[in-house]
Amino acid sequence: MITALRQGFQENFGSLPEVLSRAPGRLEILGNHTDYNEGTVLSVAVDRAMHIAASPAPGSSGLCRVVDLVSDSRRTIDLHSLEQPRKGDWGNYIKGLIVELHRREIRVPAFDAVLYGTVPLSAGMSSSAALEMAMLLVLLKLAGVELPWLECAKIGQACENHYVGANTGLLDQVSSLKGKKGHLIYSDFRHYTVDNVPIPQGTAFVVANSMVKHNLTNEYNERREACEEAVHILAGAYPGVKALRDVTVQQLHAAEKLLPPLVFRRALHVVGEIDRVETGREALRKGDIAGFGKRMQQSHQSSMENFENSCPEIDRLVEIGQTLPGYLGARISGGGFGGISVHLVQSQDAQNYQKSLEKAYQERCGIQTATMLCQADDGARLLNCNASVKLDGSGIF
Ligand code: GLA
Repeated sequence: MITALRQGFQENFGSLPEVLSRAPGRLEILGNHTDYNEGTVLSVAVDRAMHIAASPAPGSSGLCRVVDLVSDSRRTIDLHSLEQPRKGDWGNYIKGLIVELHRREIRVPAFDAVLYGTVPLSAGMSSSAALEMAMLLVLLKLAGVELPWLECAKIGQACENHYVGANTGLLDQVSSLKGKKGHLIYSDFRHYTVDNVPIPQGTAFVVANSMVKHNLTNEYNERREACEEAVHILAGAYPGVKALRDVTVQQLHAAEKLLPPLVFRRALHVVGEIDRVETGREALRKGDIAGFGKRMQQSHQSSMENFENSCPEIDRLVEIGQTLPGYLGARISGGGFGGISVHLVQSQDAQNYQKSLEKAYQERCGIQTATMLCQADDGARLLNCNASVKLDGSGIF
């Protein structure tokens, strides 16, 4: 990968890159739409990532050249004319970051870069956060600035919120930054703390792409507004409620009549999810893998019934999973409305599970998908530019 990246840079720009970075995609394992409700999430950074090679651009034109080696597409970014996002364009994730850095009075020099990403696009594995975090590490290095990880995550989120137009939370960026091999990431979005939780021995994550592309700008924002409406009403009933994090499942049920039915169901999903994260974490601590898997299953049920952010194709993937040997739990992962399902399975059955899932999905939905086995990996890092074989990450945090 690193060799391909360096070669790609040399072929496009005629020299070797000065900065290399890598930032992984993520899977959300439990805790759906809880991040912007100040809740908790269990996620994992995966062994699929965005890789970037870059150098300062020669001359002083203020023009940056960026080549995506995977799609063989290129963008020229003018540092003096950044204000216009282009709908659906991957260049927005880079321009939006630069705008956010400028807001923080960090000046980025013009640069040339090549990208090589292995995170599936628009699938719910945060290919955009992987691009943002890999690019942000490069930009900060070129600008000679170091920032704490939380500020990096917030810059990525601000890029999504203000430039791309998706009112997303911090989960994707935090997961990309704070991953650890063999571990889940437990994030608390009220206190902005993270902890790593060991993944039980003998289990694996199988990911199935429904091939239904998701887009997080409309329905996602609507769901978020419903959560805000619920908080507004619940704060009247329970003084001190500032976010859905502050409400228990019992309190929510007791206040059901105060809320419009749709808003109640949206809130029930989030409050239930926060509860499942906490009890699921406890189950893992006790080695109760079946109990953890059961919560993944309940999470999906709630996505279908309460939050309505699944789709028939993902529901089929989850249903099929339940019938296969090795199944422990499965659910939609990420924002929803398409994308992927994540399946916790016994490692020894993983390969057969993948084959059977692909076959049955093709039979039932007429859609061909390639499933993936994902490993938990380390978070975003700058890489050593001179190493030729195995590169150790050198973090800036
Ligand atoms: C998307 C958003 C995250 C989070 C998840 C749902 O991935 O980017 O902030 O809200 O959806 O949990």
